Amino acid sequence: MKNVKYKDLSKLEKKLLDEAEKVMENAYNPYSNFYVGAAILTEDDTIITGTNVENSAYGSTICAERSAILKANSEGYRMYKSLAIIARGEDFDTTDVSAPCGSCRQMLYESSQISEKDLKIILSTTKKDKIIVTSIEELLPLGFGPKELGIDVKKYQK
Ligand code: THU
Repeated sequence: MKNVKYKDLSKLEKKLLDEAEKVMENAYNPYSNFYVGAAILTEDDTIITGTNVENSAYGSTICAERSAILKANSEGYRMYKSLAIIARGEDFDTTDVSAPCGSCRQMLYESSQISEKDLKIILSTTKKDKIIVTSIEELLPLGFGPKELGIDVKKYQK
């Protein structure tokens, strides 16, 4: 886990973070007023975004990260290199980065196992004055995944 400056991100990573920032405004969040934008960089450098989508039955809410994974799968992508996440409250700028929740970490772990590589995760404040670069292996060590159930991950790669 390390702190990095926006200017030190690669061109593609800057774009990934900027895309996450853009879609964050599409969050459907009447209950929390919390905005989250996520952007996945697929194996072939396609960017797929997602936002949180809340529901009046609170438990049916889906996070931005999982929303992006579902969209990527629908578009035919299951192999990812990196993910950018940016978040803010309605009436305040979060002074700290927002990291993926437990359910999102679990789904991201599945994706990293299918991709057969650790997933780089870039977390940023809206001001981009604090950026942390980490990975799913770091956020979910000793995770439980498809390999534990004898799944041939190669069969599901695309
Ligand atoms: N949220 C995300 O989108 N990602 C996370 O990893 C944590 C939480 C959303 C869900 C809900 O709409 C709002 O943030 C408050 O929990």
